[in-house]
Amino acid sequence: MTDYRIAPSILSADFAQLGEEVRRVLRAGADFVHFDVMDNHYVPNLTVGPLVCEAIRPHARVGGAADGAPAVIDVHLMVSPVDRIVPDFARAGANIISFHPEASDHIDRTLSLIRDQGCKAGLVFNPATPLHYLDHVMDRLDLILIMSVNPGFGGQSFIPEALHKIRLVRQRIDAYRAETGRDILLEVDGGVKADNIAAIARAGADTFVAGSAIFGKRDADGGYLGAVTALRSALATA
Ligand code: DX5
Ligand code: ZN
Repeated sequence: MTDYRIAPSILSADFAQLGEEVRRVLRAGADFVHFDVMDNHYVPNLTVGPLVCEAIRPHARVGGAADGAPAVIDVHLMVSPVDRIVPDFARAGANIISFHPEASDHIDRTLSLIRDQGCKAGLVFNPATPLHYLDHVMDRLDLILIMSVNPGFGGQSFIPEALHKIRLVRQRIDAYRAETGRDILLEVDGGVKADNIAAIARAGADTFVAGSAIFGKRDADGGYLGAVTALRSALATA
């Protein structure tokens, strides 16, 4: 059985109380903290950088418990250039660092840089970005992130073509695993909700970013626990 991971995107969190928001979603059973970095250059929006990553690091613990082991901070860089900022995020406590191939002049070098800094490395594909960027770097990847919206904003609708792309990536990962024994996570980001997450899982994804689907339930019955539970119950039917 596939081991599914839920990664709330803090883009939709209440930034005035970010530490508490991080603890809340982890208490609700989230696995990763998805950290969206936007630079108003590669994408038309501006968010947060290494300082904020460092600030949430002590709050990101498994189960949201003060004595929990460190939970994974999953940094999604939507910035160009990429390399300059990678060591800063490694120092700030990032565990996974992913970037868009179009944003780096030397993709192989950036992937090596991320691992040299002690982090896991990921490559992110926009809806229209072809998968050929995977051709010669599978051994350098720990995660492949398929965007199911155009990057820049939370709360957009899932682009159905992403399902087709996820199936193609799943084939590549399975073939690579059969050959090498090493696994690569397949993450999906954008418009993931309780009513489409099972179909996304059936297409082959194992890691699910959810921003508005979780943080949008701040004041709803059941709150974040209800939101994460709804996603997990839907996954159980996949
Ligand atoms: C979009 C970001 C996403 C976003 C997802 O550029 O990369 O992580 O926060 O938000 P939802 O789940 O609301 O689409
Ligand atoms: Zn993201």
